[in-house]
Amino acid sequence: GGGGGGSKSALNAKLPKKIRDAGVIKVGTDAAYKPMEFKEGDDIVGLDPDIADAMGKKLGVSFEFANGTFDGLITSMQTGKFDMIMSSMTDTKERQEGLDDKGKKAGKGVDFVDYLTAGSSILVKKGNPEKIDSVDQMCGKKIATQRGTTSHEILKNQTEKCEKDGKKKVTVEAYDTDDEARVRLKSGGVLADVSDFPVAANAAKSGSDFEVVGDQMESAPYGIAVSKENEKLRDALKEALAAIIKDGSYKKALEKWGVE
Ligand code: ARG
Repeated sequence: GGGGGGSKSALNAKLPKKIRDAGVIKVGTDAAYKPMEFKEGDDIVGLDPDIADAMGKKLGVSFEFANGTFDGLITSMQTGKFDMIMSSMTDTKERQEGLDDKGKKAGKGVDFVDYLTAGSSILVKKGNPEKIDSVDQMCGKKIATQRGTTSHEILKNQTEKCEKDGKKKVTVEAYDTDDEARVRLKSGGVLADVSDFPVAANAAKSGSDFEVVGDQMESAPYGIAVSKENEKLRDALKEALAAIIKDGSYKKALEKWGVE
């Protein structure tokens, strides 16, 4: 809601015309990342959709979330499938500059509007049978993660370290969603699932299956991603974010989902 009738907010005028006319901003996400974004029936709910909703009130438009594979979100946005990505996506230099995991130019890159901070953590089965509490202890072990994430990157780097140290590499099982990685952990197929802390903490909290071990790794900002040629949208989003931080609705959303 918020798009129809009545007087439009001052921020609405700052949006690209196409979006103003549509009254809708299309958002790509991977909705298997509770509590950040997840499916409840046919709806996509969570902290990211709530932050977007609050921003939508300032912008006089609504946000429409659509599900996609995380590893393909940037490409999908660049082919016009949506206007922005809000998917707990870490603002990295590689994504800004469109680099592949070897640091080589592979695509166009995106701009980010940063809105939260989180790092990766290690989720294991309750009781931590193998007493793992850092990635250094993962050489020669089977570990699950989500493909194309910063956690996947951490595990790839760790594998190289293991080999350099003359140890066996990490057998990394990369899944399209973190939900699949966690199912694999629950069944005992892997020793750990490496994902973002808010998601690991949520999984550990909601049941007696899992626990989070060790410290958060590589804390960094999450950003809303927009295409580089979409500066107008980026700048309007920045202002809307500042407005919801100022009026307390941002903080309310964090509290509702138990994220800090
Ligand atoms: N923050 C991590 C990254 O950007 C993981 C994000 C995964 N998000 C998701 N909705 N599955 O690589």
